[in-house]
Amino acid sequence: MVKTFGATKALRGVDFVLNRGEVRGLVGENGSGKSTMTSIIAGFQKCDSGEMFLEGKPYAPANVREARDSKVAMIVQEIGTIGGIGIAENMFLGEIQNFSRGSIVEKKKLHEEAKKAFEKIGVTTIDTSRPTTSINLEDRKLLEVASAMRCDPDILIVDETTTALSQNGREIIYGLMKKQVAENKSVIFISHDLDEIIEVCDNLTVLRDGVMIGDLSKPEFEKNKIQNMMVGREIKGDYYRADYDGSHGDRVVMKVEHLYGLHTLRDVNLELHEGEILGIGGLSECGMHELGRAMFGVDIMVSGQITVNGRKISKTHQAAAAGIGYVSKNRDTESLMLQAGIGFNITIPSLEKISSFGIISKAREKQYTQQQIDALSIKCEGGQQKTRALSGGNKQKVAFAKWLGKGSQILVFDCPTRGVDVGVKAAMYRLIEDLKKNGHAIVLISEELQELIGMSDRIIIMKNGRIEGEHLRSSDLSEHDLIREMI
Ligand SMILES: Nc1ncnc2c1ncn2[C@@H]1O[C@H](COP(=O)(O)OP(=O)(O)OP(=O)(O)O)[C@@H](O)[C@H]1O
Ligand SMILES: [Mg+2]
Repeated sequence: MVKTFGATKALRGVDFVLNRGEVRGLVGENGSGKSTMTSIIAGFQKCDSGEMFLEGKPYAPANVREARDSKVAMIVQEIGTIGGIGIAENMFLGEIQNFSRGSIVEKKKLHEEAKKAFEKIGVTTIDTSRPTTSINLEDRKLLEVASAMRCDPDILIVDETTTALSQNGREIIYGLMKKQVAENKSVIFISHDLDEIIEVCDNLTVLRDGVMIGDLSKPEFEKNKIQNMMVGREIKGDYYRADYDGSHGDRVVMKVEHLYGLHTLRDVNLELHEGEILGIGGLSECGMHELGRAMFGVDIMVSGQITVNGRKISKTHQAAAAGIGYVSKNRDTESLMLQAGIGFNITIPSLEKISSFGIISKAREKQYTQQQIDALSIKCEGGQQKTRALSGGNKQKVAFAKWLGKGSQILVFDCPTRGVDVGVKAAMYRLIEDLKKNGHAIVLISEELQELIGMSDRIIIMKNGRIEGEHLRSSDLSEHDLIREMI
């Protein structure tokens, strides 16, 4: 299979075999071609050349509908639902005519069927009559899962979906994957979490720069080996901080006092110091993501306050003016403008750096963008390229670059390394360490306990909207200590 986008060779003659009854992991660095290959299999786009065979017969789906008719369904890495319509309408996108009499849509039947589709995957909490934008990212993903499962797929493709979900959502997907195998059907599973890959896959295939590197079967799974195959060189074992010195400056740069949110936060109090990496962990619904949003003035709070150097933060422009940078967990809708160029996204919070007397210098814009692209090794054709053309991990780097380049004094990162490959992860951790050394304060909200333990000077664990526990950096701290407080 060959696929090119302009100057980018996304797939350079890839051979891939999927067997019945297996969960096959697909791994590779950011931009190696995983989403491109699987989206061709699922009918989202066509390859330039190459052939596919399904059960020995030529297979060339012209669109997603045809792929689903052939029992091939994919849950995409990015948001796969449309915002402006209802939940049930998204579920039956392109099939509404099946629910219509003349020009009248039989709403009742539509909702009943949508409800059934959710029940089939074990979800009973979503009201299908609500608008799609009223549910959170997790439920939107589950909507895609339910929609995909409607065709009883022989081949289910799961592209970097689990990292966007809480444990509960993950269990649903793992359950469906097990069921596929039990019924002698198959799964292609994409994830950057190698522990997860090792746990859930029977076999795996490694892709590098659009070239197939090789296959491994379960007994051959070994983290270092997989990483080396992915990057083509030896990767050193650990990439977290090497020191256990949790000291930081005395100056308090941000204060959260008696903060109550609409649904989640219950009397949250904390202080963030200069030169401090403050980790915040907990289960997905514990309130940590909402706390991050509040720190950037995204959501309206019920009472309490957040202050930076004595100035109250309740709106996003105040947060940005006070030197706060924020990378949302919800990358595609909240961190980036996908239709805009990479350079536009990177420069937008830093216009003062590239303009004089209020006029943007094109030359400085270009130079500044290129600096950030180089600093984070963003795999792209240049600053002019549309952000939506980037692979998932490279989009995440753009979201990161936006605030790093600005030199924000306080950085609130919500799951910053989600969907990012091992090499880039290591580079991001080094950047976070450097930021600390230069006196910046970092809030690291993460669902990865190893990341929290490995990077934070202090860790706060949240539960049901409250702060449940606090831990200082120490070599003795274990995941178990944190989990006990989380659940
Ligand atoms: N629509 C597009 N237009 C231009 N380039 C594209 C497009 N889709 C993908 N690419 C490029 O093709 C390459 C492979 O991208 P792909 O999304 O398949 O990577 P990936 O392995 O899924 O990466 P990640 O782990 O970051 O999701 C990247 O260089 C990407 O920028
Ligand atoms: Mg991808």
